[in-house]
Amino acid sequence: MMTEDLLAAEPSPVHERQAPHVDAPTYARMYRQSVTDPEAFWGQEGKRIDWIRPYTRVKNTSFEPGNVDIRWFEDGTLNVSANCIDRHLETRGDQVAIIWEPDDPEKDAAQHITYRELHRNVCKMANVLKGLGVEKGDRVVIYLPMIPEAAYAMLACARIGAIHSIVFAGFSPDALGARINGCGAKLVITADYAPRGGRETKLKSNTDTALLHCDDHVQCLVVKRTGAQTTWTAQDHDCNALMAEASAECPAEEIGAEDPLFILYTSGSTGQPKGVVHSSGGYLVYAAMTHQITFDYHDGDIYWCTADVGWVTGHSYIVYGPLANGGTTVMFEGVPTYPDAGRFWEVCDKHKVTQFYTAPTAIRALMGAGKEWVEKYDLSSLRILGSVGEPINPEAWNWYNDVVGKGRCPIVDTFWQTETGGHMLTPLPGATKLKPGAAQQPFFGVQPVVLEPTSGEVIEGNGVEGVLCIKDSWPGQMRTVWGDHERFEKTYFSDYKGYYFSGDGCRRDEDGDYWITGRVDDVINVSGHRMGTAEVESALVAHEKVAEAAVVGYPHEIKGQGIYAYVTLMDGEEPSDALRKELEVWVRSEIGPIAKPDLIQWAPGLPKTRSGKIMRRILRKIAEDDFGALGDTSTLADPSVVDDLIANRMNRA
Ligand code: PRX
Repeated sequence: MMTEDLLAAEPSPVHERQAPHVDAPTYARMYRQSVTDPEAFWGQEGKRIDWIRPYTRVKNTSFEPGNVDIRWFEDGTLNVSANCIDRHLETRGDQVAIIWEPDDPEKDAAQHITYRELHRNVCKMANVLKGLGVEKGDRVVIYLPMIPEAAYAMLACARIGAIHSIVFAGFSPDALGARINGCGAKLVITADYAPRGGRETKLKSNTDTALLHCDDHVQCLVVKRTGAQTTWTAQDHDCNALMAEASAECPAEEIGAEDPLFILYTSGSTGQPKGVVHSSGGYLVYAAMTHQITFDYHDGDIYWCTADVGWVTGHSYIVYGPLANGGTTVMFEGVPTYPDAGRFWEVCDKHKVTQFYTAPTAIRALMGAGKEWVEKYDLSSLRILGSVGEPINPEAWNWYNDVVGKGRCPIVDTFWQTETGGHMLTPLPGATKLKPGAAQQPFFGVQPVVLEPTSGEVIEGNGVEGVLCIKDSWPGQMRTVWGDHERFEKTYFSDYKGYYFSGDGCRRDEDGDYWITGRVDDVINVSGHRMGTAEVESALVAHEKVAEAAVVGYPHEIKGQGIYAYVTLMDGEEPSDALRKELEVWVRSEIGPIAKPDLIQWAPGLPKTRSGKIMRRILRKIAEDDFGALGDTSTLADPSVVDDLIANRMNRA
């Protein structure tokens, strides 16, 4: 529960060394301008990156139903890779751009990669891609561990104008194959193995399996991460060998502001994940600006975001934002608890990290391990802490604040989405009086509105709750769903006409601060990762013994939400623990470990309306162990199924 004390929490003293980029009066002034005169505001902010041909037109956007069209800086041209590398060479060629920290500090040494070395490696990788026939506009799937080559690959694509689509290394061969086919990729960049938490994922073998279902012409570029034995086919190319021979000079192509920089697949409430398309110009301006302001990044800071480049957080806040700002960014291959629960803090101490950005699920897990792990290390370099991916509960916020930040590091609780490209709602260090658990204020240019969920009416005033929509475009916004603009319009602009619909519920408190209350659609948030319940359901029903399945989220102490599956078996199949295990393994192999159900309940029947629609509201309540408040069940075709589900529920207090 929230206490008065917590609500009164003051922003901690931030700036012993230098003034914050934005203080409270500056925020108010800049925010006002950003929404009253976006043309002038972004016209100025767009200059934070280098343009080959400067833009003359800043904003050309429409949320109008049937005509959703989003363009920023549309007549400008640039190169994202040159912005992240080349333009820093003269002033900071010898500055470290990327600090790479391996999974196992006993086995591998950390690497410090300067901007000059980054330039060399990215050029080499870009020449390798060109040598394999990759051209401007082609798609390249990246399925790599968190190694420097992942950043090289992203920036190499950007350099030649190829569009990358990263697939998280925890995804299964099926999920990888679907994404390769979904965007018609010419090439997959993978590694032999992905070490993580002391275990190894066989990335190359997963890729081989995925490619069995792809066009024969898809080539495969393999980075040797461990160098252990793998299969090798005619489609495979040795990345290390090719890079060794490649030229270290590669001109940066001139790219249109609106040309896609990347596609990233994300789960929605229905069916297959969709390919979120981000632009080059607007995206980079927004990633760079949010990175600098939200984390109050100053020259000389060592910034660490613990995400994986397989998620949007890794795109905007490990690679593009920090490097566009000429920063030093830490890239971590491992997990918070390996070799032990002190790993995060050991890395902070070792590299003298100044900004640390992680997810509530990691904080909760480490909180459980005890504060002695934190206290073993010197964390005095830390200045700012960040949280992302799901609402942070006040207990975790307090622990983060007290034990990690020693009460002197502001916590920025950043709300945003794969679709938004960068932060949407967040406190700003040095400008915002913090409230544990609240994302608080809109970033520049973002106009949040709270709508009444059914009528779609705008709810004015404070102390209100509804669904969160955004009134006008911002430069980091996704432009379309790859190959399906209609789906883009339908998903985000059709429920509430004229607005971008986030899919989240939210509350605006008495002070006008925003609190995200969680998804209002069939998307669940497991350890900060988005999972469509429909995806897990279709994986389950693809199993030969399963007749029907319904999946919902339920509160989970560490993960935020856990996956609860109700499964009806085919006639003649008997429930057993062995079958439960089999289904878990099945879903892992269909989608990936993050989709594995936490609880599976055998359901002889599912609660359905007379027209056959599953009443998920009831299933959610039972999964939450809150069946006293089931609401009206009279419209059910067979109300007795509910009694059976309650009697055999899996999540009991
Ligand atoms: O429900 C919100 C939650 O994560 C969703 C977006 O997930 P994804 O696209 O995977 O991006 C995650 C990282 C940007 C949102 O719709 N979410 C994200 N950040 C927060 C959050 N919920 C509450 N507070 C946050 N800070």
